[in-house]
Amino acid sequence: MLNDFQKCCTPTQLSTICSQIIDTSTQAFNVNNGNIPKWEKAIDEIKTQNKGDVDFESPYLNIGSENIDNKALEQSLKQLMPWRKGPYQIGDLKLESEWRGDMKWDRLLQHIKPLKGKTVLDVGSGNGYFTYLMALAGADIALGVEPFLLFNYQFKAIRSLINNPPNAFVLPLKLEQMPNQALFDTVFSMGVLYHQKDHMLHLQQLKGLMTDGGELILETLIIDKEHGKQIIPKDRYARMRNVWCLPSTDTLHNWLLDAGFKNIKLVDVTKTTTEEQRATHWIGNNTQSLKNFLDPNNENFTVEGLPAPKRTIFICSK
Ligand SMILES: C[S@@+](CC[C@H](N)C(=O)[O-])C[C@H]1O[C@@H](n2cnc3c(N)ncnc32)[C@H](O)[C@@H]1O
Repeated sequence: MLNDFQKCCTPTQLSTICSQIIDTSTQAFNVNNGNIPKWEKAIDEIKTQNKGDVDFESPYLNIGSENIDNKALEQSLKQLMPWRKGPYQIGDLKLESEWRGDMKWDRLLQHIKPLKGKTVLDVGSGNGYFTYLMALAGADIALGVEPFLLFNYQFKAIRSLINNPPNAFVLPLKLEQMPNQALFDTVFSMGVLYHQKDHMLHLQQLKGLMTDGGELILETLIIDKEHGKQIIPKDRYARMRNVWCLPSTDTLHNWLLDAGFKNIKLVDVTKTTTEEQRATHWIGNNTQSLKNFLDPNNENFTVEGLPAPKRTIFICSK
């Protein structure tokens, strides 16, 4: 996959950073992680299946393979659980991930500049569901960066099922490991800001990677004004560890201004529903999902007594 990335990257405006990010990714793939043999074996099995062409048939990223051995494929894909992002369909096998990613895509697509011909960065890409949609929307290259190794293997698994995969790649990198060069026309940071201890640093790093006039799509958890300017959860939030900041939309607008972004537009606020985040048999033994993270007596609050998850999308330019 890194070879394919190199081939695709070299003729684009990312040429100056290809070697560096390939080296960093190679190191990340070479860590000592006891799960890697199991994941590699699963991918070897998946590679024995027929490949198919890929397209987006909402809600599924759909791979039109014929004569798939559904049982064997499901078994191999389940070696890579939990499948948080998707959903995918391979032949007639439906991989129902925890999240209905299409619902987020629907909320933002009408508001963003066309991706055709663009160099796109998807920060915190998970297994690359959105990165594929960006490439299918015509991006020259869509690069996802995702430090969690399992999600990189999920990306490889899906890619190994596709005939002539589009120019979408996921590399095991943190945003902080990207060379600070203004190379990307469109940058997505979705579901990542609230995981950052230093939200301003994250915004500055995103801006540093954007070309002049480039567009940022920032999607994150927020709270209603009535709960204050921001909440910093003391412990978990909706059972998630590492949630550092839940701003109001006004506070988030000010953070974007302070970071030097222009043309700041709030395009969406949506409460997360159990239709969008649901338990399925693709998420493994711990089958808890949003339904279990909300107060059973009042679904406007989480089990920790904080406002229930609501997400916003801001779009702005450099
Ligand atoms: C909640 S998921 C969001 C996935 C996807 N972007 C979406 O919107 O559904 C957040 C992802 O960001 C990744 N992440 C967290 N900190 C990151 C960082 N500093 N750089 C890149 N990715 C990061 C996590 O590993 C996780 O997979």
